[in-house]
Amino acid sequence: MEYRKLGRSDIEVSEICLGSMTWGTQNSEAEGHAQIDYALDHGVNFIDTAELYPSNPMSAETVGRTEEIIGTWVAKTGRRDEVVLATKVAGNGIDYIQDGIDISPEKIRLSLDSSLRKLQTDYVDLYQLHWPNRGSYHFRQNWKFDPGGQNTQQTLDHIHAVLEYLGDLVAAGKIRTIGLSNETCWGTSQFLQIAAAHDFPRVVSLQNEYSLMYRSHDLDLAELSHHEQVGLLPYSPLACGMLTGKYENGARPAGSRLTTNPDLWGRVNDGVWPVIDQYVGVARKHGIDPAQMAIAFCNQRPFVTSSIIGATSVEQLAVNLGAAELELGDEVLEDIHQVYRQHPIPY
Ligand SMILES: NC(=O)c1ccc[n+]([C@@H]2O[C@H](COP(=O)([O-])OP(=O)(O)OC[C@H]3O[C@@H](n4cnc5c(N)ncnc54)[C@H](OP(=O)(O)O)[C@@H]3O)[C@@H](O)[C@H]2O)c1
Repeated sequence: MEYRKLGRSDIEVSEICLGSMTWGTQNSEAEGHAQIDYALDHGVNFIDTAELYPSNPMSAETVGRTEEIIGTWVAKTGRRDEVVLATKVAGNGIDYIQDGIDISPEKIRLSLDSSLRKLQTDYVDLYQLHWPNRGSYHFRQNWKFDPGGQNTQQTLDHIHAVLEYLGDLVAAGKIRTIGLSNETCWGTSQFLQIAAAHDFPRVVSLQNEYSLMYRSHDLDLAELSHHEQVGLLPYSPLACGMLTGKYENGARPAGSRLTTNPDLWGRVNDGVWPVIDQYVGVARKHGIDPAQMAIAFCNQRPFVTSSIIGATSVEQLAVNLGAAELELGDEVLEDIHQVYRQHPIPY
């Protein structure tokens, strides 16, 4: 397992981050704890969660359970200082989280206190804004995204106010670093510029979707990552499980995400399966596990700090962590490139 710095901070994280959004719905507390123990035993030191988890599905009844499960692990084991813990304040629009209000200093105050209580800790290592108030092209909005209704001055004032407050929280010791999620190149740049001008905390990471099936970061954001050392934390690197090959030939394993969420939040369309078959085919041709190839591909991208994987069993987790030992060679990368040239963003 390789360890990489989070942005310009001194915090080192494993190249694979343990995602948690299935703990509390698909996975029990005991299963969540078993995953953390297994991951730590195999070199992972980085866990990602959010105040709104679990998802798949999200609901008012279960919201917050994932943080609680991590909290009981922290309390039980006393191993808080062995993990870099990342959580997120929810963006707007979910009515059972503070009535769905926009992210603001007041919302962050309430959300962070609630997260710290549930996580049973005094501090969060990486505090992320889950999605921007103004919207973005993420979450499948890429097909119709139009920033034309955004008010520039309001957006900049909002970023200023949020960064100023996050600076207070860093000074108070409640958070160590800050990150963005589902953000754009312009938005991230504004956070960086305003922070530099006012000595507010600097964004260390960008948690956006990225996988063989969705390579939006390869364009402008790659340049931003390079010049500003804002690393990508790719989420859904397995395309929600599709890239593992588990759905080959129409298979639908009982309990798998596709059986509980048939369009995988808008990712499934008629054009997707032939592309999945091609990527899985590349892995098979080279005798590599398809899930490991998909994760190793992300980790070999120059802008990636740590890929956030999900697993619903320790067996899946074991396979996925094996990607840390895999180095994709030129021939595999060339075969991947040939598929990419034909299908740049299949969904
Ligand atoms: N910031 C955001 O907006 C955002 C959005 C999404 C996710 N995230 C973060 O990213 C993490 C990972 O997201 P994700 O779960 O979508 O990632 P993913 O790695 O693309 O998909 C994980 C799912 O694929 C299946 N799977 C994983 N490994 C497998 C294997 N070896 N063999 C067969 N099936 C396997 C499992 O689902 P089944 O067993 O149910 O099929 C698992 O839950 C989340 O936990 C969360 O921390 C963030």
